[in-house]
Amino acid sequence: MRGQVRFLLNGEMHTVRDASPTLTVLRYLRENLGLCGSKEGCAEGDCGACTIAQGEIHNGRMRYRAINSCIQFLPTLDGKSIVTVEALKNTDGSLHPVQQAMVDKHGSQCGFCTPGFVMSLFTLYHRAGDHSNIDRLTVNDAIAGNLCRCTGYGPIIEAAQSSCSEQPDDWFTSSEAQLIEALSALDSDQSLLYEHAGQRFFAPHSLAELNKLTAQYPDASILAGGTDAGLWVTKFKRQLDTVIYIANVAELQQIEVSSEQFSLGAGVTYTDALEVLSEHFPDFAEMTRRIGAEQVRNAGTIGGNIANGSPIGDTPPVLIALGARLILSSCNGNREIALEDFFIDYGKQDLRSDEVVAQIVIPKPAVGSQLFCYKISKRFDQDISAVCAAFLIELDNQGVARSFKAAFGGMAGIPARAKHLEQALLGQPWNEQTISSAATQLKLDFNPLSDLRASAEYRLQVAGNLLTKCYLESTGEVGNTRLFGSSRHSYGKR
Ligand SMILES: Cc1cc2nc3c(=O)[nH]c(=O)nc-3n(C[C@H](O)[C@H](O)[C@H](O)COP(=O)(O)OP(=O)(O)OC[C@H]3O[C@@H](n4cnc5c(N)ncnc54)[C@H](O)[C@@H]3O)c2cc1C
Ligand code: FES
Ligand code: FES
Repeated sequence: MRGQVRFLLNGEMHTVRDASPTLTVLRYLRENLGLCGSKEGCAEGDCGACTIAQGEIHNGRMRYRAINSCIQFLPTLDGKSIVTVEALKNTDGSLHPVQQAMVDKHGSQCGFCTPGFVMSLFTLYHRAGDHSNIDRLTVNDAIAGNLCRCTGYGPIIEAAQSSCSEQPDDWFTSSEAQLIEALSALDSDQSLLYEHAGQRFFAPHSLAELNKLTAQYPDASILAGGTDAGLWVTKFKRQLDTVIYIANVAELQQIEVSSEQFSLGAGVTYTDALEVLSEHFPDFAEMTRRIGAEQVRNAGTIGGNIANGSPIGDTPPVLIALGARLILSSCNGNREIALEDFFIDYGKQDLRSDEVVAQIVIPKPAVGSQLFCYKISKRFDQDISAVCAAFLIELDNQGVARSFKAAFGGMAGIPARAKHLEQALLGQPWNEQTISSAATQLKLDFNPLSDLRASAEYRLQVAGNLLTKCYLESTGEVGNTRLFGSSRHSYGKR
């Protein structure tokens, strides 16, 4: 195992010395290195003021993604390349095209939000392909994680569209070969054990190593994307003595599609999962695009969304409706359980301390079945849901519900199926009358809480309304209500 954390910082090799493994990247940049361009607005992944670009080699090229440096622990950078706002200006003093466009379009705002906006635009610029087709929706998505509390987004969107429509300059592309060589030389194929002042940070590369570590350190904190776990330190001031980082475990990064099922490694980020979800489950992909914002989706994982046991995680209701199963892994081998059985009670999951969630297996839905996913939150982007709903419906050729699965988040202490509702619709004609009568069963299924996101009455009401919406969408009575244009809900009809 290697003992040093090394990464490329603005193109230069950097070795970490004398820093806690749970120090955030933002604090390290600002306090240890004096790079104060990245700002701290919220320290919880919400505002984007701390956005930096994280680069990795992908298909032989450098690929940059925006991350929130305020919730990433320093050793997660090992083997990667990061770019901070300080490095965008060229050596001759000229600005990067996105910076110049921010000046030209009067997009520059206060010193807190602007660096983060610029870094989000930088990553958009560098993944904009041939730079010919950046639509407003793509720009909005790229800056949804950068919040300004004071002024307008219009000039920033214009700056994005104008700079990203130009032919790309040679920023970093002229030196891309050297960067790739330098990154490859970091020797990051070896697992990492970084220790400092009694704290340990393990980053194993194989499932076998991970299983040994969880057996040896059953009290360790498992870290995936850190979009929850980062806040334990920044907000709850917890001291984490032993952290096991799972994002480098090769087996947990795999996505497999067979004729029977989809298998997603638990360490796959939302951004990477979106590629397969968009193709096979467009409505699920649409909802996944509303999880946090790009910075959160570039780090966060579906595995973490499940393992944290939250009653308001967005993906569990959809996965439960789809009949997903989990593969849990430990030194004693694999254990397979239905996802709906994983959630036992509020804060209690069927996961032993030596186990990790290794894979999420989604059976392919029956031909002709339809999936509908809904998220209700106060803001469209970057908000946790008050209620989530997912419905998987299969009708026979008489229009009778041959199979019907409904699962909800935000309605109980755990994500759960609505079994009374399901029973009321199974074998019934799929029409307005049966839908409205079945919706009354929801109060037998759930006794939701009132909290800051919604009252119990609102939750029950909206759950029934979502069923009605699903019905209307299934019959084509309402047009496409999806932002990214996914109106395709059916399987096997492509
Ligand atoms: C700004 C912001 C916005 C957010 N918006 C949303 C949202 O819209 N919808 C939503 O559902 N969530 C949201 N979240 C919450 C969070 O992003 C998700 O729950 C995310 O999926 C957590 O995954 P992660 O990889 O970051 O997990 P981590 O933070 O690394 O870990 C979360 C928990 O799961 C455990 N864990 C992680 N992976 C495994 C594994 N493979 N095996 C065993 N245990 C594991 C960790 O020990 C920890 O307890 C948001 C968070 C932030 C900061
Ligand atoms: S400081 Fe707000 S997202 Fe990082
Ligand atoms: S937060 Fe910077 S101008 Fe509003």
